[in-house]
Amino acid sequence: MKKVYIKTFPEYSIVYDDLVLSREGGPGPGDVVFVYHKSGKFIGSAFYNPHSRINLRIFSFKEEDFDYEYIKRTMKRAYDYRKSLGFENSFRLVYSEVDFMPGLIIDKYQDGFVFQVFSIGIEVRKELIIKALIELFDPLFIHEKSTGHLRKLEGLPYINRTVYGEIPENYIVKINDVNFKFFVGQKTSLFLDQSENYLKLLNYVKDGFEILDAFCYVGGFGIHFLRKNVNVTFLDISKDALNILQENLKINNILGSYEIACSDVFDYLKSCNKKFDFIVLDPPAFTKSKEKLENALRAYDRMHKLAINLLKDNGYLATFSCSFYVKEEHLLESIKKVSKENFIILETLYQSKDHPWTLKFSESLYLKGFLLRKI
Ligand SMILES: C[S@@+](CC[C@H](N)C(=O)[O-])C[C@H]1O[C@@H](n2cnc3c(N)ncnc32)[C@H](O)[C@@H]1O
Repeated sequence: MKKVYIKTFPEYSIVYDDLVLSREGGPGPGDVVFVYHKSGKFIGSAFYNPHSRINLRIFSFKEEDFDYEYIKRTMKRAYDYRKSLGFENSFRLVYSEVDFMPGLIIDKYQDGFVFQVFSIGIEVRKELIIKALIELFDPLFIHEKSTGHLRKLEGLPYINRTVYGEIPENYIVKINDVNFKFFVGQKTSLFLDQSENYLKLLNYVKDGFEILDAFCYVGGFGIHFLRKNVNVTFLDISKDALNILQENLKINNILGSYEIACSDVFDYLKSCNKKFDFIVLDPPAFTKSKEKLENALRAYDRMHKLAINLLKDNGYLATFSCSFYVKEEHLLESIKKVSKENFIILETLYQSKDHPWTLKFSESLYLKGFLLRKI
């Protein structure tokens, strides 16, 4: 096996180019290499990419190849983990480094699969990934949606195509027994990372509530809440998402009533003269880099101030950040800063457990949120 020697022991699985000391055997982009500390101690097996700042992505801490046998075994392990936690139907099957497949995301939508690739090591082994999915799951379709910004950093082109089978025209999948129409939309289709939070928040919703689902996308929170006799205002800027939302409302048993607003959330909050018992704020990542953190925090301050103005006494506010750089303490500080009122923290919320986050790979935690109640 080709070898790469590095200066220090990495924190976990990512090694930047400035740590690389020397290479043996002439490794090329996408090759598997064995990584050693300069002292000669073995560290792990990794994908090598000299064209990315991330030169090495360690996938195993043993001496092994990323071959078909490894892929099948690792995919099966990832599947068994989710099943052991009770995930059924639609969930994230493979979450990159955490599942020992750096640069690969696979989401399962009932019998269909959507994958995203953002490392060259996976890119050159894509056919093996597809083969393993077919052999393990006998899928209806496999779609590749490799369009994230991380792909650019690895020097890879955007790809969005069905690579196996066909996506049925009206393909309905389930999250927590709620029906959603599958479509190739934002991310891989649905925000599976909120699946557990839909139920956690539903616990606090009471008949008669006036609810605002801001940044609603195709209705994840609001459609869950409509199992109760409430009125939900769905709010999003994307017409495409709201068109799918209309279809989702038709394929579920809805007890309450709803309104749909296609608008910028900030504009809507400024001009709205209704008050709400429950407001959900689930914005897109306001920053994808550390440099833009200050701007993102200002956007949170503005959004929180406007939303709190529309909250009734004793009202509930759920606020989320899916940006790695906007942390729990930023969310709480922002609310503390912009509100005259006090809030009880009822729930600390994270991405659902099919997107596992680990102690040693702290980058794996990106979705954080709180459920607060005004007092
Ligand atoms: C993280 S997703 C929300 C996911 C959703 N809550 C769910 O559970 O499926 C963010 C959503 O915000 C919408 N969005 C982005 N910027 C917006 C803006 N300024 N005003 C309104 N919606 C916006 C996007 O179209 C996207 O649907």
